[in-house]
Amino acid sequence: MRHLEGAYALIFKSRHYPNELIACKRGSPLLLGVKELNDDVCNGSAFHDAKFLSKNGNPKELFLSSDANAIIEHTKKVLVIEDGEVVHLKEGGVSILKFNNDKGRNGDSLSARPASVQRALSILEMEVEQINKGKYKHYMQKEIHEQPESLTTTMRGRLLRGGSCKAKTVLLGGLKDHLKTIRRSRRIVFIGCGTSYNAALAARPILEELSGVPVTMEIASDLLDRQGPIYREDTAVFVSQSGETADTLLALEYTLENGALCVGITNTVGSVIARNTHCGVHINAGCEIGVASTKAYTSQIVVMAMLALAIGGDTISKQERREAIIDGLFDLPNKIREVLKLDQEMKDLAKLLIAEQSLLVFGRGYNYATALEGALKVKEVALMHSEGILAGEMKHGPLALVDENLPIVVIATHDACFSKQQSVIQQLHARKGRLIVMCSKGDAASVCPGGGCRVIEVPQVEDCLQPVVNIVPFQLLAYHLTVLRGYNVDQPRNLAKSVTTQ
Ligand code: UD1
Ligand code: BG6
Repeated sequence: MRHLEGAYALIFKSRHYPNELIACKRGSPLLLGVKELNDDVCNGSAFHDAKFLSKNGNPKELFLSSDANAIIEHTKKVLVIEDGEVVHLKEGGVSILKFNNDKGRNGDSLSARPASVQRALSILEMEVEQINKGKYKHYMQKEIHEQPESLTTTMRGRLLRGGSCKAKTVLLGGLKDHLKTIRRSRRIVFIGCGTSYNAALAARPILEELSGVPVTMEIASDLLDRQGPIYREDTAVFVSQSGETADTLLALEYTLENGALCVGITNTVGSVIARNTHCGVHINAGCEIGVASTKAYTSQIVVMAMLALAIGGDTISKQERREAIIDGLFDLPNKIREVLKLDQEMKDLAKLLIAEQSLLVFGRGYNYATALEGALKVKEVALMHSEGILAGEMKHGPLALVDENLPIVVIATHDACFSKQQSVIQQLHARKGRLIVMCSKGDAASVCPGGGCRVIEVPQVEDCLQPVVNIVPFQLLAYHLTVLRGYNVDQPRNLAKSVTTQ
């Protein structure tokens, strides 16, 4: 450990030390699961080889893992291992040792004499059912279809309407003591990677509108590469499903050093980002297992819309707008149920696109993020080249790609950018583009006069919530394309759920 650099979680065993294991970590997560075996379980022969005897003679089984999901089917009791610690398992006994950073006598940066650490067991707050596939074939499919429920859980207790409370408001327990500071910030900086970055991008316009504070976007690795300026007067919002992504974590360390207020938005209670930010919001979407993020994405957008409502909460001029959004949030799970009915339609579209090399997705305004995220879903699971394009940039390059072969999805649901998207469709049509248009229910004739394109009709919701609805058909399309093309849906080639290395 004295010599290693970067993030790691390692386990060692040696034939010279039978019945012993050593594990250590820095930066990457590591959990030790502890299962006390009762008589019933001990009778199962599978456990006999692996069992340990604890000091009081009770048989125990121990698990080392970087993710609670892998442990939960065995035990809920875990020890969370911290950076710089070494776990020593020997014949059923567990000891944790901590090397502090003082100079040792021989001048080493880690002291030679480690201190023994006492730590109470933590109990995981999740159920095995959460990691079963239920009636679905794949986790990604299950997670797409459970979005009405995951969104309901995300909003539970946080939206207040009716009863003694006449006004419609939002209460984010984790942020209420920090709202004044956030409102006074010079700017709000969103920082994340992959899908989490896209979710922040989807929420950016409503945060700008309701807070009046400038909002900028940072891909975590790019902020680090540039060592971009971060100031004490900034609020930095770290968005991460896992709360463990190395790039986002390093950006958090960098931002803390620069003195900004750090807010976390994560799905994982106890994750490093949840622990190391000053405050934050858990999205409570439930455990997400499919590598391609789906339900966490929609819950992240909803939490950030609630963040915008909470920050803008004291402006009277925007009360009507805020209340309309809150009503929209209450109704959102129903709208997601409705859009999920497009499953078969998306399967048919997938059959049509199965042999394509490439797919372009044009979006703008609230749905620029949908274009990026829709393309990312197709790319990461269906292994098909796909690109999300800001429709306003169409004439500055992408138009050169348009011909009668390349399939193009244009997102043209009803919002302030609708007429601009109509004009984009006309221009693509004039160049014989092979168009698939996503529009609000009832708009098919106005987005596709003459019927020369395929139309996906989705329910209309408040403009800032429309990305939550619009991403669902893309998730379904990516899922079906992947299955039809015979690829692994839940563990796409070369990708990992938590990227804990840089
Ligand atoms: C909390 C409880 C919830 C309980 C509710 C009752 C937890 C995890 N949540 O939810 O079980 O029903 O009160 O009022 O115990 N935080 C960060 N960084 C992050 C995420 C969160 O610092 O990235 C902090 C928050 O500032 C807060 C705490 O973690 O102090 C819990 O956050 P959250 O679960 O979002 O709070 P509540 O919704 O109030
Ligand atoms: C990985 C995952 O690349 O990390 C993506 O494969 C995810 O699905 C990205 O969006 C960021 O992860 P997180 O946990 O920080 O949201």
